[in-house]
Amino acid sequence: MRVRILGSAAGGGFPQWNCHCETCEAARVGERARPRTQSSLALRGDEGPWFLVNASPDARQQLAALSPEVGDVRAPPVAAVLLTDAEIDHTAGLLLLRESQAPVRIFGAEGVERALRSGFPVLEVLKRYCGAEWHTLEPEQAMELEGSSLTVEPFETGGDSPRYLDGSGLELQASGFVFRDRATGGVVTYVPGLARLDDGVLGRLAASDVVLVDGTFWRNDELALLGISTRSARDMGHLPLSGPEGTLAALERLERPRKVLVHINNTNPILLEDSPEREAVRGAGVEVAYDGLEIEL
Ligand code: MLT
Ligand code: MN
Ligand code: ZN
Repeated sequence: MRVRILGSAAGGGFPQWNCHCETCEAARVGERARPRTQSSLALRGDEGPWFLVNASPDARQQLAALSPEVGDVRAPPVAAVLLTDAEIDHTAGLLLLRESQAPVRIFGAEGVERALRSGFPVLEVLKRYCGAEWHTLEPEQAMELEGSSLTVEPFETGGDSPRYLDGSGLELQASGFVFRDRATGGVVTYVPGLARLDDGVLGRLAASDVVLVDGTFWRNDELALLGISTRSARDMGHLPLSGPEGTLAALERLERPRKVLVHINNTNPILLEDSPEREAVRGAGVEVAYDGLEIEL
């Protein structure tokens, strides 16, 4: 299977349009940090088409990196879209697929569908353009991706509902996906939103060849320290990397997988290639994703 990181930044991208924090300014200069587009992934089995995992607002430029196999005048570069959650940075890109010739095939949890029909009704919008064909993924049930040697198995990773659902009474949590390639036996686990590091989650990570894990924030109070927001990382559904209970310590203990951080917020000092935090990540045997990183397994 081939995995390609299309976008490695969290919502807002890197640099973020209105942000002048140290890391964003470094990305503008382009010496100590490289710019990144918003969170998205593509993968394909040994045989068969590409699949898009999360549709970011940067989907147009991200999809340009994938070329379709058929020579029709209009041919989609991906066979379907899989959604780990209903956050705007993972779903706004669905609107950019409205020029599709056929209904867009979209996979996700039941709560994600409800969010995308009510609070942020992109599925209802797409209906009037190319159409949207929804497929519900059940937690902990593996499903074959048609036309491919891949299966996907979702699992719940905690977290909060998107803010556009505030007051709606609709509660949902994020999912991670385990992808397995029947042709090669390769296993990749993708968790861009990780709020709960329980034994179930840790077991799935430990049994993978590659894990692509939530690296949104270094500290729990990262935004408060910069005076940007009073919301903590945990309030936003993201465990911080640092600290004894942080994600980095847990990843360091995993022996089998190659470990890569994704969905990195523009304030996170690991984006600075010469920072002590980046050095700590390296020291833990963990990588920081960048756009275009490709992994074959
Ligand atoms: C998140 O990852 O927590 C969300 O994307 C935040 C947001 O976009 O508001
Ligand atoms: Mn996000
Ligand atoms: Zn910033």
